Amino acid sequence: MSACIFDLDGVLVDTAKYHYLAWKLLAKELGFDFLEADNERLKGVSRMASLEILLEVGGMVNVSEADKWAMADKKNKCYVAYISRMTPDEILPGVPDFLHEIKAAGVKTAIGSASRNAGLILERTGLASLFDAVIDGNKISRAKPDPEVFLSGARELGVDPSECVVFEDAAAGIEAAIRAGMKSVGLGHPSVLYKADLVIPGFEAMHWNKLQSLMNL
Ligand code: G6P
Ligand code: MG
Repeated sequence: MSACIFDLDGVLVDTAKYHYLAWKLLAKELGFDFLEADNERLKGVSRMASLEILLEVGGMVNVSEADKWAMADKKNKCYVAYISRMTPDEILPGVPDFLHEIKAAGVKTAIGSASRNAGLILERTGLASLFDAVIDGNKISRAKPDPEVFLSGARELGVDPSECVVFEDAAAGIEAAIRAGMKSVGLGHPSVLYKADLVIPGFEAMHWNKLQSLMNL
């Protein structure tokens, strides 16, 4: 394995709470409540697809395209206000050590995220310098489970997809890794991420050698 490609939200940082607060505020303005359980459905889903789910939860049908763009824009402004205040403290446990370890082992690193705000999050948390390539929602046109984001990552790193391990917290992301012909590690629950080659709860106490042996690489 010569490269690791990381999803950002839910893998390296916990931004789901900020997405949730921003969508909840929009829902409130639209006159309905948006619950944390429904927020689970938005993980790994693009901004506009998330809005569609929100509108479905609120029972709002026949919303014009122009109104949808305005709503997504409003939600994003609120979300950006939250992530603009992020600090390195918000990096998930074990992540910096793991990244430093694999880089020292000569493994290339990339971000493969659906978010158009990935650059800001990487800058605010100080993670940016740890990645050789960043593929985000601004660079791709097809959302996960399409493999585009991960294949672009491999291309930018100059490695073959078969030499890449993807780290993902969303089932659609694991599916995208499989379609890209890559190995995958799920961050979260095996019940959701059962298609991954390996599922771990997080990066704490995780080492590159241990991970490779757990995956039988
Ligand atoms: C990630 C998150 C999703 C989010 C998407 C787009 O995949 O898991 O919850 O909707 O990125 O993020 P953006 O920052 O572009 O709205
Ligand atoms: Mg994610």
